[in-house]
Order: sequence, then C-alpha cells, then structure tokens
Amino acid sequence: MTEQGLFDTISLSDGITAVKELPSTSVHLILSDIPYGIGTDKWDVLHDNTNSAFLGSSPAQIKAGAVFKRRGKPLNGWSEADRRIPAEYQRWCESFAGEWLRILKPGGSAVVFAGRRFSHRCIVAFEDAGFTFKDSLAWLRETAPHRAQRLSVIFNRRGDTENGDKWSGWRVGNLRPKFEPILWFVKPYIIGTTIADNVIAQGVGAFNENAFIAYEHSPDNVLQSGFAPGEAGRHITQKPVKLLKALIELTTLEGQVILDPFCGSGSTLVAAKALGRRYIGFDNDESCVTEAKRRLADNMFESQLSAAPAVTP
Ligand SMILES: C[S@@+](CC[C@H](N)C(=O)[O-])C[C@H]1O[C@@H](n2cnc3c(N)ncnc32)[C@H](O)[C@@H]1O
Repeated sequence: MTEQGLFDTISLSDGITAVKELPSTSVHLILSDIPYGIGTDKWDVLHDNTNSAFLGSSPAQIKAGAVFKRRGKPLNGWSEADRRIPAEYQRWCESFAGEWLRILKPGGSAVVFAGRRFSHRCIVAFEDAGFTFKDSLAWLRETAPHRAQRLSVIFNRRGDTENGDKWSGWRVGNLRPKFEPILWFVKPYIIGTTIADNVIAQGVGAFNENAFIAYEHSPDNVLQSGFAPGEAGRHITQKPVKLLKALIELTTLEGQVILDPFCGSGSTLVAAKALGRRYIGFDNDESCVTEAKRRLADNMFESQLSAAPAVTP
C-alpha cells in the first residue's frame, strides 16, 4: 500500500501486528486509549490467568449474581496467578512499544490513556523501548461509579451483626475513581539537534499552548473536557472528542498524521478528522470498526467538528 493509501483509513486489524506494516518515522502523534488490563471484557484480559474467580465466573460469584456484578472489578491478589498480572501487562505493553517508537517522527508524541493501577508498567515498558516519559496528565471525569462494597453488608449477610456494627462505614475496594492518567511520551530528538531544529525538520517537538488553552482555559496538566450532549454511550471506555481534540492541537499541526491502534468507537479519529489531520485507526472488534466508520462518515457531533471552542473570558 502507498503511504497515501494508509491515511484516513480505519481497519479491522490487530493493532499490534498492523503497526508493524507502517513505514518508519511516518506518524506525528500516536493518541490511544489502550486496554488497561483491569477489566473482565475479553479485549481487556491481557494475562494468562484463567482463574475463574478473577474472571468473575466462579460458582460463588455466579451465586452472588448482581452483588458481584455491581462491583464490576475482580479483587486483586486472590492467587499467585492474580499477582503476576501487573508484570504480564508490562510485557504486553513491551510487545508494541518499540514499534511505536519506530514509526513516530523524532520529537513526536505518544499520548496514552492508561489505568491508574498499571500505568507505571506502561511507563517502564515505553521508557525501556527508548521513549522519554515527558509528563503524567490527569483527566477529571464528570462522574464516576463508586463500586466499593460495604463491609458491614458482607458481615450482616453472614448473620454476623457484631462485626456488621463494628465495621459500619468501612468499605472494600477504592475511593471514587474521578481521574484517569494520560501518559505523555516523546520520541527523543536525533542526537546533536536542538528542539528548535527538530521542530523545523520534523514538524513536531514543541507544544501549542494557545490552542490547548482554547479547550481547557489554562495550561494546567489536569484536563476537564467532557462529553457533548448525546455523545457518550458508543463504547464502554469512550473518551470525549473535545478532550482528544485538545491533545491533538497540543501536539500537532493541520495535515499531520495521527494513529490510534486501539481506536474503539473511533473518538480519536473523529477528533483528528475534525481538525484537518490525517488519521489511521485499527481495532480488532468488528462492531467497534463499524461504529467508528459510521461516526466518521456521518461527521457526527457536528458542533464538535468545528474549530477550537471559543474561550470564555
Ligand atoms: C479502551 S478501548 C478504546 C475506546 C475508545 N477510546 C473510544 O472512545 O471508543 C480499547 C479498544 O482496543 C481494542 N483492542 C484490544 N486489543 C486489541 C488489539 N490487539 N488490536 C486492536 N484493537 C484491540 C478493543 O476492542 C477496544 O475497542
């Protein structure tokens, strides 16, 4: 395929294998909400642990039914196999980090949404592959489900009211997960060049503060852009187009190439198209690819496809 034929496409492909086919130094930005490795959805299970309890299908969990499902996430550390999951996630990140480095232009960014629990594994994998870890940004979500189970409910269900009273107010799990880390990596400049020289030669390497402020109202590394009315509900881990547009304008110019190898419902690609960037998207789930193509063809969320939103004084 010619380089031109790669652009403005979304393909039903394994995103790890497909990236190996892309030419070296052909991409200005990789912006991807990669699997976090914490869920029980098939696409998010990146470990070898077939422990039925971890995957939510042990006899006890099936019996617990809605109670278990409401919690949504399996407990950690139930078995030795559970405890190997973080290292297995790192190996999964290592399986593509080097290819991402190869296809990016020097000074180009890889901006990665990663889960709070395993993002450190992603950072180590990318650093070891040769990336510079530039910063950890935070995206503040407007809402987040709080699924921590009440300890007293567990004891009371067992008929242990003494412990039910003693542990009233205590929970199993985590505080409300209101932020998600966004990891910002950069491919190092060619040795001997300056940032300014790199920007001229490669078109990337600095960041556009003015464009970013038009979305986020400040140059802070805590981002708050949310969904437009009617936008959400296309993917279980969907990200707002406005947020992705802020990150695209932060790091690229019009006409540059943006890749999302795990594109889900295509939010990154919709944002890229809206901003006049060229895009390449992969997902190995047919329904995601269909939805992404539909969003791109429909120019959905017309209000979001316009240029940067007006800054409120
Ligand atoms: C976190 S979701 C991305 C959702 C996206 N941010 C959105 O707004 O719709 C990750 C996606 O990666 C896809 N995926 C997982 N493993 C993959 C692989 N090896 N190759 C391609 N896609 C993969 C899943 O199907 C899922 O849609």
